[in-house]
Amino acid sequence: MHTVKNHGRDVYIMNKVLVLLAASVLAGAASVQAQEAEDVRMMRLAEGAGCVICHSIGTGSKGPHGLKPIGPAWVSVAQKYRDDPEAVSTLTQIVLEGSDPKSSHWEGEISSGMGMPGNSLVINDDDAGALVAWILNLAR
Ligand code: HEC
Repeated sequence: MHTVKNHGRDVYIMNKVLVLLAASVLAGAASVQAQEAEDVRMMRLAEGAGCVICHSIGTGSKGPHGLKPIGPAWVSVAQKYRDDPEAVSTLTQIVLEGSDPKSSHWEGEISSGMGMPGNSLVINDDDAGALVAWILNLAR
């Protein structure tokens, strides 16, 4: 009798453990899905605003005629500003207002002379901030 009772309790505990395991697997899957949805949303934003005309996400892409790329790869941006806590706000401002071609942050790494034109006509402040935050996470 005693063992049967114990067995019942073991089964109860096992079931509880299984339920907890299943719940944590589902939670993990849900967060992977949420990240994927965010990636898709950000890539659509980048495409819609024309960022991808000048930027690639990963390194190694060439610019027109095999020259250096027009803008820096976004993974390189994430690496460069990895330890800069102000990066989201400074870079969002640069994305909206444009960069100064005479004081490039990417001297020698991109086709020179052009700078980034302001993008505030094609992307709003909130979306620009979200996109920059996403870009800065690409090297984590
Ligand atoms: C016409 C080409 C062009 C377009 C379109 C463009 N960029 Fe850029 N982007 C550049 C160039 C060139 C630079 C390098 C600026 C420099 O020399 O400091 C740059 C730099 C950047 C940087 C790094 C800034 C820094 O100071 O290090 C970020 C972040 C960025 N772009 C994001 C974006 C986003 C987001 C969009 C779309 C809303 C976009 N860019 C659209 C050309 C472009």
